[in-house]
Amino acid sequence: MHITMIGSGYVGLVSGACFADFGHTVTCVDLNAEKIEALHNGEIPIYEPGLDLLVAENTRAGRLSFTTDLAPAVADADVVFIAVGTPSRRGDGHADLRYVYSAAADIARAMKGFTVVVTKSTVPVGTGDEVERIILETNPAADTAVVSNPEFLREGAAIEDFKRPDRIVVGLEDARARQVMEEVYRPLYLNQAPLLFTSRRTAELIKYAGNAFLAMKITFINEMADLCEKVGGDVQEVARGIGLDNRIGAKFLNAGPGYGGSCFPKDTLALVKTGQDHEAPQRLVETTVAVNDTRKRAMGRKVIAACGGSVRGKRIGILGLTFKPNTDDMRDAPSIAIVQALKDAGAVITAFDPEGMKAAREVIDGIEYGADAYDVADNADCLVLVTEWNQFRSLDFERLKTVMNGRVFVDLRNVYGRSDMERAGFDYHGVGRAASPVQDIDMSDAAE
Ligand SMILES: NC(=O)c1ccc[n+]([C@@H]2O[C@H](COP(=O)([O-])OP(=O)(O)OC[C@H]3O[C@@H](n4cnc5c(N)ncnc54)[C@H](O)[C@@H]3O)[C@@H](O)[C@H]2O)c1
Repeated sequence: MHITMIGSGYVGLVSGACFADFGHTVTCVDLNAEKIEALHNGEIPIYEPGLDLLVAENTRAGRLSFTTDLAPAVADADVVFIAVGTPSRRGDGHADLRYVYSAAADIARAMKGFTVVVTKSTVPVGTGDEVERIILETNPAADTAVVSNPEFLREGAAIEDFKRPDRIVVGLEDARARQVMEEVYRPLYLNQAPLLFTSRRTAELIKYAGNAFLAMKITFINEMADLCEKVGGDVQEVARGIGLDNRIGAKFLNAGPGYGGSCFPKDTLALVKTGQDHEAPQRLVETTVAVNDTRKRAMGRKVIAACGGSVRGKRIGILGLTFKPNTDDMRDAPSIAIVQALKDAGAVITAFDPEGMKAAREVIDGIEYGADAYDVADNADCLVLVTEWNQFRSLDFERLKTVMNGRVFVDLRNVYGRSDMERAGFDYHGVGRAASPVQDIDMSDAAE
């Protein structure tokens, strides 16, 4: 199959490289000439484990190429994927679809013969109808089928997720496209990954429903963590206690600083807007969004409380900035709000992230950047572990203590055990793990 990928970011580049690895001939297109130039020079514009090798191998084999020139790439293609960004629209939080619509018009002008156009970008229900309308309006002679094929990969494990997905969702209205999509995904289909065919609108909804559900699960355990802190419980044990129930499942039950990243914040918000527009308010998701928004800054206040109520003039070291480990993605990372809250309170901040420093410098200013964890700890009154990169999981406590000025350690990912940290001499603060049971719970109501 000849596949063209419009947009060569986190999703387009990974999908393109994986499709090439399946044996398809893939052209990745991007408007960003710098990105394409870098790819021509063998450089990967993002950090994603394993992607450099996959791109190099498939480029060498002649199955993967890169261009800024959309028209010839589309003319030659059996299938064109749209994998451009769909950020939150400034002002109202709806998904901003301008890149999708502009790609649809460009594709329409260039397509030759029957071409399946597949939206891989996360788009609100009904977008496929609009993409089809734009294509036919731009090029009334176009022979096309517009398909929805939402992507579920996770940054940091994107290749594994793409090659071994839990399921592949394909939403279509035209039977001709079904055969083409089966051919595109044949290698995975043979490996038994369920290929779930639905209507186009249903496929669009599945993506938002999935992300909203996961965001809700995270937010649930985060609120449970707050309760644990107040009443003397351990949220990790609560999570394990409920997660072992197969109906609930153990994943996405790690209490922390709130969800962030390039997907959950914008997708939950977009779903809320869609629900409101259609008079089917998604109240659980509305609350999830509101709770998560306040949580990130609240984590700043948690650090301030751990430092005795004031951080003015104190030195705080931040370990990890990206929204999760194994990515350089800083979009909507909780670290942004946490650092801002601490800066507002007068703290002097030094931060380090293994892969996210370049992206972080573009969104966080007024702080210093260190060379590693120990550099960040140098002279610090308090260390805050924000992103659980592996290299922060086995810190040398003795070395930290020799360079630190204070002993406060705020572990927003519950990487460490309280007793280990206290034994090592730290004033340890985790999330949802109370120091000792609170004695003064009034049980009188419960007895009635
Ligand atoms: N990042 C993830 O983990 C993830 C996972 C699942 C789904 N998604 C969804 O996939 C979509 C893409 O996300 P991303 O993280 O890859 O975004 P991204 O910003 O990394 O990449 C988008 C790319 O599209 C390019 N582009 C924009 N308009 C173009 C056009 N008309 N022609 C050619 N190129 C164009 C941009 O230059 C950019 O390089 C979004 O809808 C997102 O919600 C993302």
